[in-house]
Amino acid sequence: MAALATAGLEPRTDGALAGMEDVSEGGALRAELLTGQTGVRITGVAVDDMTDAQIEAVRRLVSTYCVAVFPEQFVTPQQHVAFVRRFHPITFTPGEDRHVDWPDVHVIARPGNDLPPINGFHTDTCFVERPPSYTSLAAVELPPTGGDTVFANLYIAYEGLSPVMQRWLSGLRFKHVVTGTKRPEEVPNPVWHPALRTNPVTGRKALYVTLPMRCIEAEGMTQREGKNLIAFLYEHAQNIYAMYRHRWQPGDLVMWDNRCTLHAGVYDHGDAPRTLYRVMCEGERPFE
Ligand SMILES: [Fe+2]
Repeated sequence: MAALATAGLEPRTDGALAGMEDVSEGGALRAELLTGQTGVRITGVAVDDMTDAQIEAVRRLVSTYCVAVFPEQFVTPQQHVAFVRRFHPITFTPGEDRHVDWPDVHVIARPGNDLPPINGFHTDTCFVERPPSYTSLAAVELPPTGGDTVFANLYIAYEGLSPVMQRWLSGLRFKHVVTGTKRPEEVPNPVWHPALRTNPVTGRKALYVTLPMRCIEAEGMTQREGKNLIAFLYEHAQNIYAMYRHRWQPGDLVMWDNRCTLHAGVYDHGDAPRTLYRVMCEGERPFE
């Protein structure tokens, strides 16, 4: 239990939120934790009506708690893009299709009953030099039940490793490759990212690992060593259960920080349509 005792599984009280609290200068923005440390619900101000100070408060909240839920927003695509652009310039996954009317929007939809090409916990577009910092999804068409999105906290995954493993991973890099996009040839080369990643907003370190089909090699290690290490870390990030499961409601807008979060869609809604609009903004080159 020693590792878990230091894994930050107690609710945060160190200057972070405890229950509902006013976090904005003007007093209108309200934030509420959704689990002990992962997920925060933000209400009080519409996303298209925030001051710069409120945007900065949201940035800190998302990067501290990994994912934020903004209920009852019903944003238009233009409002959605304008909101995300306030965090960083908009980016788009190379090799994916753009919405015909709103080119910054990627449509997340599953035609028929097929599973999507990428299924399981992942961090978005890790295979480029500067992966997106924030991803947001807006609900467009939801199934009557199912189709949740689950988020896992990679700060806690890092903090749940032993000091020996933490030291061992320090300075190590993993090779990331593209999978699951429509035109993988549009992604130039595999990239190397640090196994541990410091979030520039919080200064906190997180494990930076994703699907083993996308994170395929550890620098300086044999194929067998690297694959086993990555498989262990990927399993560990899920095994600590530091998660928030979002059940979509009409009008929801959800935003997460890819630098400290894994996410997975749950495709358990049969033939019922599930359509979400995704908008992302660019991040920095990952650093430890
Ligand atoms: Fe994703």
